[in-house]
Order: sequence, then C-alpha cells, then structure tokens
Amino acid sequence: MLRLRPYKECDANVIASWIKDEFAFRQWSADRYDHYPVTGDDINAHYGKLSDADWFYPMTAFDESGVTGHMIMRFTDEEKKVLRFGFVIVDADKRGQGYGKEMLSLALSYAFGILKAQKVTLGVFENNPAAHYCYLAAGFRDVPTEQAEYYHVLGEDWKCLEMEADARPYRSLALDLIMQRRSYRGRYKAEPVPREDLVTIMEAGLAAPSGCNKQTTSLIAVDDPAVLDKLRTVIDPPVGETAPAVICVLTQRIYAYRDKCFAVQDYSAAIENMLLAIEALGYRSCWYEGHITDDDRIGYQMAQILGVPDEYELVCMLPVGIPESEPKAPVKKSFAERAWFNSFQK
Ligand SMILES: Cc1cc2nc3c(=O)[nH]c(=O)nc-3n(C[C@H](O)[C@H](O)[C@H](O)COP(=O)(O)O)c2cc1C
Repeated sequence: MLRLRPYKECDANVIASWIKDEFAFRQWSADRYDHYPVTGDDINAHYGKLSDADWFYPMTAFDESGVTGHMIMRFTDEEKKVLRFGFVIVDADKRGQGYGKEMLSLALSYAFGILKAQKVTLGVFENNPAAHYCYLAAGFRDVPTEQAEYYHVLGEDWKCLEMEADARPYRSLALDLIMQRRSYRGRYKAEPVPREDLVTIMEAGLAAPSGCNKQTTSLIAVDDPAVLDKLRTVIDPPVGETAPAVICVLTQRIYAYRDKCFAVQDYSAAIENMLLAIEALGYRSCWYEGHITDDDRIGYQMAQILGVPDEYELVCMLPVGIPESEPKAPVKKSFAERAWFNSFQK
C-alpha cells in the first residue's frame, strides 16, 4: 500500500537519479531541464531553500520497497486557495501499474483535507495520454488552454487540468486512514523515528477525548537503544523487537464521578488516535495490550525499568517504525452482521 509523507533529505538521491532521465523529466515539468538540480545534494539545497516558504510542499510517495513517487504541491495565489501539482512515478519499474492512481488519491486527500485547497491544478504533457486519462478518471477536468492560469508557464505542449474541492473524492484522508489501518506484527527497518514524529504521535494521543476530561492517560516514548534493550529483556515472548521506537501507554484509575472510572475508555481513545497518526506518518504499529497485561505482568516490569510511579499502570505498548513488509488483513465480519439501521436485526 502506497503512503505519502513530506519529502525527507534521504529521498534526494532517488529523485536525483530519476531527474537524470531527461525524457521522464520533460513529461513531469515544464521547468527548464538544464536548470534543474541533478545531484542529491543539489536537490536538498534547492528544496531546503524553498521549504522555508509556507506555500511549497515537496512530498514523497513510498511503500515497503522504497520511494515510488515524488511530487511538489505549491500554492499559486496569496490566499492559498489554488494548489498546483507536479507529479511523477520515479521508480520506472512501477509505471503503468496503478501506482499513479493511488498516489493521486492520497495527494488529493492531502490537498483538500489537510492543506484546505479550494482548487487543484496540474499540467500534463500532450504526449502522455496515459497520465491524462488517469487525471480525468480521478475527477479532473480539462481546462481550455487559453483559460488556464499557468498556460504561460507550461507552454503549448501541455494540457491543463483542474479539480474544485466540491468534486473531490468523497473520502477524506482521515477516513482512508481509518479504513486502511492494520495491526502490523512483522519486522521493522532499522531507520530511527525522528523525535518530531514521535511528538506528533503522542500529541495525537493526548488530543483524544477523556471521560469528564480527567485525562487519565500518560505516555512514554522510548527511542534510546539502551532503554529499548532493557525493555526487551522483559518482553518475553518478544513482540515488536525490531522497532526503533516504542510508545508506552500509562493509565491512572481516577474516578470521573461517583463510582465511574473511564480510564480504559480514555486510554483506548488515545491509542486509536496514535495508531492513526502512526499510519498517517508512514509507520506501522500494533496495539499490544493482551501480551503485556497477562499474568506474567510484563507491563509492570516495563514500568519498573522506566521509573513509573505506583499510581500509574503501564497497559499497552505501541511499536513504531517503518515496516519491512505489508500487514496481513484479518478476517472481519460483514457490515450486515454487526451494524443495522433502526432496530437490531438477527
Ligand atoms: C484491547 C486490545 C488488545 C490487543 N492486544 C494485542 C496483543 O497483545 N497482541 C497482538 O498481537 N495484538 C493485540 N491487539 C490487536 C488485535 O489483535 C487486532 O486489532 C485485531 O486482530 C484486528 O486486526 P486489525 O487491527 O488489523 O484490524 C489488541 C487489540 C486491542 C483492541
């Protein structure tokens, strides 16, 4: 499954090797080919300068096999309503296999859902009918060349297309994530998870609702290899043992009112928010609760290692990292077996 994330410096070499393919470059951009940076360092320097601006969004589409596509999104107006896409599958082996469609759908969700664009525009090289068809199938419409805002940039070899926010695919990025999230129990790549991503994931957890706003859930992210090693001595049988980071979920059994304690609901909401944030950032995870709250009290031993005070209980761990493989989809009951309208139906 393809995912989209902001461009990272480590993507530069893949993109640079693609840019050296002049034919492919010309199908992507009307920019002057000979003016474009070609080494990974040049690209990082170029994007480093541009990404200070809050109208420019270089993005990378990737899956377990690596970088699949590259795109830039840039607002073309001061009000930040009109967003222009430049879009390419950089991995030549993946062209013509539906990846473009998948990447476009992610990009549209991001453009309309996160960046709140009102219109998305793009140009397609006239010798690239497959891409043109892909854009039309995704809901774009042709704009007569003389009306296209960027005609003067693109030139006459290009057709312009656009999509208004009203015509966007009905699913938002959030809905896509909810539907596509899967428990991942495989191996992780050794690549560390940047602190800023761990903070974003934990912020998503803390943003969850809690009964009477008692905020009974606390979190500890572990990314220090020495501490991870210590935790692994007590996680037996091992789970998530190759993950470069783990988020530990702590709860306090505080009464919300009278005899009502919503601690379980509170941390469950926080965990689901974090699982979705983890997927949104291109990582995978699994809700490990049964495993660590069993009779052997692994969670308690982990809490001891992390210096957790007695009034908190460590109830769940979420490994975080880039997966080496795809998660297996579990068999789920059909909609009709579990959800109805207006009355219970057997
Ligand atoms: C409360 C709770 C505890 C869980 N504990 C474990 C666990 O200890 N080990 C594990 O492999 N998965 C655990 N899971 C993940 C479930 O097995 C998984 O969500 C379920 O099989 C459905 O798969 P899906 O997440 O891909 O939809 C737990 C999930 C929940 C909600």
